[in-house]
Amino acid sequence: MKLGFFGLGNLGMPFALGWIMRGHQVFGYDKNPDRMDVENFNEMEATPPGCGTIKEELRKAVSSGRLLMCADPMDVMYKSDIIFITVQTPSQDNETSDYDLGPLKVCIQEVTGLMAGLSGITNGKTFVIVSTVLPGTTRALSQPFSKMQASTVVYNPAFCAMGTVIPDMFNPEFVLLGFAQEPFSGGIGVEVGIMSALYRTVTDSEVLLTNYENAEMTKCCYNAFITTKINFANSVMELAHKVSGCDADVIMDNLKKAKNRLISTRYLSGGMGDQGGCHIKEARALSYLASMKSVSYNWPKQSLDCRLSQFYFIKHLLADVIEKNQEEYSDIWIMGRAFKPETNLTDESLGVKMYEKIKAEWWHHKVRSYDPIIDCYEPEFDKAIFFIATKHEAFRKLAYPTGSIVVDPWRYVEKPDGVELIQVGRCQ
Ligand SMILES: NC(=O)c1ccc[n+]([C@@H]2O[C@H](COP(=O)([O-])OP(=O)(O)OC[C@H]3O[C@@H](n4cnc5c(N)ncnc54)[C@H](O)[C@@H]3O)[C@@H](O)[C@H]2O)c1
Repeated sequence: MKLGFFGLGNLGMPFALGWIMRGHQVFGYDKNPDRMDVENFNEMEATPPGCGTIKEELRKAVSSGRLLMCADPMDVMYKSDIIFITVQTPSQDNETSDYDLGPLKVCIQEVTGLMAGLSGITNGKTFVIVSTVLPGTTRALSQPFSKMQASTVVYNPAFCAMGTVIPDMFNPEFVLLGFAQEPFSGGIGVEVGIMSALYRTVTDSEVLLTNYENAEMTKCCYNAFITTKINFANSVMELAHKVSGCDADVIMDNLKKAKNRLISTRYLSGGMGDQGGCHIKEARALSYLASMKSVSYNWPKQSLDCRLSQFYFIKHLLADVIEKNQEEYSDIWIMGRAFKPETNLTDESLGVKMYEKIKAEWWHHKVRSYDPIIDCYEPEFDKAIFFIATKHEAFRKLAYPTGSIVVDPWRYVEKPDGVELIQVGRCQ
């Protein structure tokens, strides 16, 4: 395929070369002319087994005509079917501002300006934003494309690490494509096919299709997850450094062997916070130890604080629903007191805590709790506000009376007709 590139920096250059290595033709443009000379590419980037160094491979790509640098960006627009935008989105060095979107905005202005000059020719072209951005950015910045001509904008974040861009591109954990609409909700087709077919030329890994916002958020959270893991390991390291007899590597190597609960997909879905006596007890004890040892950052305490803040986020959300509907609903049911589904275990149960808080706050309402494992009878429910505290299977298809509101922090209740279902974590 004929691929265009706007931005031949640390990502754009090796990314472009990866496509070339799989037989594609690349037309490249960078605002900085120095970046268009492959001799100036001095990053240490790995190449696949059997290939030359990155510089040698880039030289080969240029001499074979597979990598054509275009002094005029109009050539990239004119000659390419799929145009990648890989310009920088640097952080502004603090946590109070978005990425610096200046270069990306300018690039999009330039590209859409060029489109205006190529009336008709850019029809059917696919524009792929690769630059890392916060959710909402692609939708906002891609407005000029939709106004102009029949072209498509896809958000395709790169999950490549610096230094291993091409190996990561050929062997990714997954390929992620974000579209203006959910691909499965209709109205999307051709661009999904084009992008999936393109990626099939480099990898057999799963291609995940979603909307712009989920794709943008996934990219940011992917990197944040890595930071979280490193911070955890370093917290263990610091504590081990200060506690006689401990060795950080022995401890972390032991934990790495826990392939069922720890190094797995378990505990990775949002819902009520961590519950049950053991985890919370351990966090409290470790928090004490960390403060006795004056560690630089007391992560067990932060975990406990985080758990509590998130509990109150859900409680306030429920309280808002009750307040907005207080004229119409006097019955409130907290569904589940067990902290673990299909059990009667209630140690450190957030369902019990929710019941107590809501009952105290909404004392003039009928606030009740029902747990199908703990209680021996099933009450007759009237129209009410139901809060699903425990992910018991029985609540998935319960016959919630018509007109009820169900607040589900687990997002598993199947919506009955005539019932309003509020799923925490799904922003409509
Ligand atoms: N470097 C990586 O390995 C990597 C990995 C994953 C994601 N990313 C993301 O990819 C994006 C690019 O990162 P990078 O490290 O390559 O940045 P970079 O600064 O190395 O390269 C960006 C390039 O874009 C060029 N550019 C800027 N405006 C332009 C315009 N209007 N037209 C044409 N070219 C223009 C710049 O001159 C520069 O050469 C960032 O959003 C980054 O977060 C990078």
